[in-house]
Amino acid sequence: MSGERLRIGVIGLGGRGGLWRHWHAPGGRSEVVAGADVDPARLAGFAHERGDAFCTNDYRRLLERSDVDAVAITSPDHYHEEHAIAALQAGKHVFCEKPLAIRVEGCDVILRAWHRSGRHLMVGFNMRYMAMFRTMKEIVDAGTIGEIRAVWVRHFVGRGGDFYYHDWHARRAHVHSLLLQKGSHDIDVIHWITGRYTKRVAAFGGLDFYGGDRPDDLTCPACPDRGTCPETLEGPRVQCAFRREVDVEDNQVMIMELEGGIKASYLQCHFTPDYHRNYTFIGTEGRLENSEPDGKVWVRTRPSRGWKDLADRVYEIKPALGGHGGADPVICAEFVAMCLDDKAPEATPLAGRMSVATGIAGAASLRSGGQVQQVAPLPSDLRQWLAGGGNSGF
Ligand SMILES: NC(=O)c1ccc[n+]([C@@H]2O[C@H](COP(=O)([O-])OP(=O)(O)OC[C@H]3O[C@@H](n4cnc5c(N)ncnc54)[C@H](O)[C@@H]3O)[C@@H](O)[C@H]2O)c1
Repeated sequence: MSGERLRIGVIGLGGRGGLWRHWHAPGGRSEVVAGADVDPARLAGFAHERGDAFCTNDYRRLLERSDVDAVAITSPDHYHEEHAIAALQAGKHVFCEKPLAIRVEGCDVILRAWHRSGRHLMVGFNMRYMAMFRTMKEIVDAGTIGEIRAVWVRHFVGRGGDFYYHDWHARRAHVHSLLLQKGSHDIDVIHWITGRYTKRVAAFGGLDFYGGDRPDDLTCPACPDRGTCPETLEGPRVQCAFRREVDVEDNQVMIMELEGGIKASYLQCHFTPDYHRNYTFIGTEGRLENSEPDGKVWVRTRPSRGWKDLADRVYEIKPALGGHGGADPVICAEFVAMCLDDKAPEATPLAGRMSVATGIAGAASLRSGGQVQQVAPLPSDLRQWLAGGGNSGF
């Protein structure tokens, strides 16, 4: 397919559906030709901005079209399994937002559909395309801190209420847990930078700030406390963050044992004043840490009289244009390159599956009082197939 143009349809035209603007480059290598959404307002907004694209409230109509080569799935998490399988069965290449699914079995069914389809599949792990985390990966791969033995990650989800507690994200039925939905990025970065998957976990967590006894149908605009409640939002996410149905934890800590005996710990809290991720990797020869607010990565090495000890380093990460620290335009271009040029993506579908399996094990642990849980291993049929290179040899 090299040298051709990729015609993309998008399922789910909400916040993340806005990725379509990166893909739509008439005269370039990709064009967005269709969009599907069940919300008439979202569909109308896309139709207005995109002009002559095919628009439908039934994603199956989009999948029937022969002028759609590839599909981006940016619908809510609990639809990913259905939408990804249907798209692969329809013979489309698939970009599926994280998490790949909200069930491990769902991920495995997607991987099998991918196998049968012979098409390309990619997961929306855009953190792998952020300059800060790519820098950290390169430092580790260069051997600067030796063999990683420990990892410590703190994810301060300031304004967590804005993004997770005012809409569908706040329900287990839709996301399973935020350890899985929000944490899938962090779990994946831990796997990616260490080069190892998690084998077992234990976790504690709770709903310590959001949720409560407000009516499920209460919205911010209709709330008598809207003048004083610090969580008041104006559209599109306006459900009360303190409503009864909220049942996903907002404060959780997970300890993890990875392949090779690497120990990791992960904190995710949704009511901090600030929003950033702080990662530390400790190896046999040094320690690596980032600060998103400072735009810096530090490397500290151990005294050994070697050259590395003369060179504790600070990397200044330049601000980049485009969503998510410049990662969104890059991941969109990488999807096109994967479909048209068979270029291997940074994140494999297996990585998507393993981050879900780890998040699910973590949620099972915290919901059972912290009992140790094994991460579900990949079934043998998929293991054998992927060991042979999967669909693309990458
Ligand atoms: N990689 C990232 O950085 C990143 C960032 C944000 C969101 N996401 C992911 O993107 C996905 C969407 O999140 P969002 O924040 O855009 O949510 P959203 O609620 O803003 O948008 C979801 C859209 O899907 C539509 N939809 C719901 N059911 C549908 C169906 N059956 N068919 C077609 N459309 C349907 C909704 O009407 C809505 O417009 C989630 O899986 C989320 O995890 C990823």
